[in-house]
Amino acid sequence: MANLLKKAYNATWGKYVFAGMYDKFLAKVEGYGLSEKRAEFLKPAYGRTIELGTGTGLNLPHYPDAVDELILTEPYAPMVMKLEEKTRNHPRRVQLVVAGAEKLPYPDGYFDTVAAAMILCTVPDPQPALREIERVLKPGGQYLFLEHVRNKDPKVARKQDIIQKGWYWFGNECHCNRPTVQTLQNSSLEIAELQETKMPGAWEFIEAMVIGRAVRPLTPKASVAASANSHAHADENCDC
Ligand SMILES: C[S@@+](CC[C@H](N)C(=O)[O-])C[C@H]1O[C@@H](n2cnc3c(N)ncnc32)[C@H](O)[C@@H]1O
Repeated sequence: MANLLKKAYNATWGKYVFAGMYDKFLAKVEGYGLSEKRAEFLKPAYGRTIELGTGTGLNLPHYPDAVDELILTEPYAPMVMKLEEKTRNHPRRVQLVVAGAEKLPYPDGYFDTVAAAMILCTVPDPQPALREIERVLKPGGQYLFLEHVRNKDPKVARKQDIIQKGWYWFGNECHCNRPTVQTLQNSSLEIAELQETKMPGAWEFIEAMVIGRAVRPLTPKASVAASANSHAHADENCDC
């Protein structure tokens, strides 16, 4: 039943409204300055780079020359169609791959840079996506992110919680109220730079935004290593 509903959604709203109108929906905030923020978050990108949840490719014009190989990934068929149109005649050579952030068809330690804008709000669970990002990054490699997040003001956060159910369907499974900074802090990546900002001209409930850079540490973070160890000990002691 859920599958049927999702199919119907993808064939109607998902295709014609969410993917079909995505650039039009964002035109106002891009014009108010989101476009500059895209350029800002991508500025440190270099080397072999992969973007996750690329959508219609709004980041594409902002990749710096230091990026020498660019792979764009996107799992959602209606978005992939839009992305194909946009990349077809683009001057930068890019490779388009249909994949979700949780399972990337690349070996461990393959990328210098992983970039993603506004996807941790949409993936079903951010943790597997962050683990996969860490896996495909070289040690010392960087994850560049731009995300709208849970508002620090409890009154606005409460509004986000109320709006969430409807927003989820409007925004193709987007969550406007996720505590993404906390999720990143608890991940195995190390936050190197974090800028708390606002999505210019956006509605209050999707206004809080962060831009930043996290790195795959050369040695695992102490808290994450300790938790992995305790799991290992628990497994050793397990009678099951
Ligand atoms: C809010 S849109 C952002 C699109 C684009 N990154 C941008 O900045 O305009 C969220 C994107 O995440 C994609 N997405 C959904 N589930 C995903 C997953 N499991 N892994 C990666 N991307 C996913 C959606 O298809 C959509 O393109």
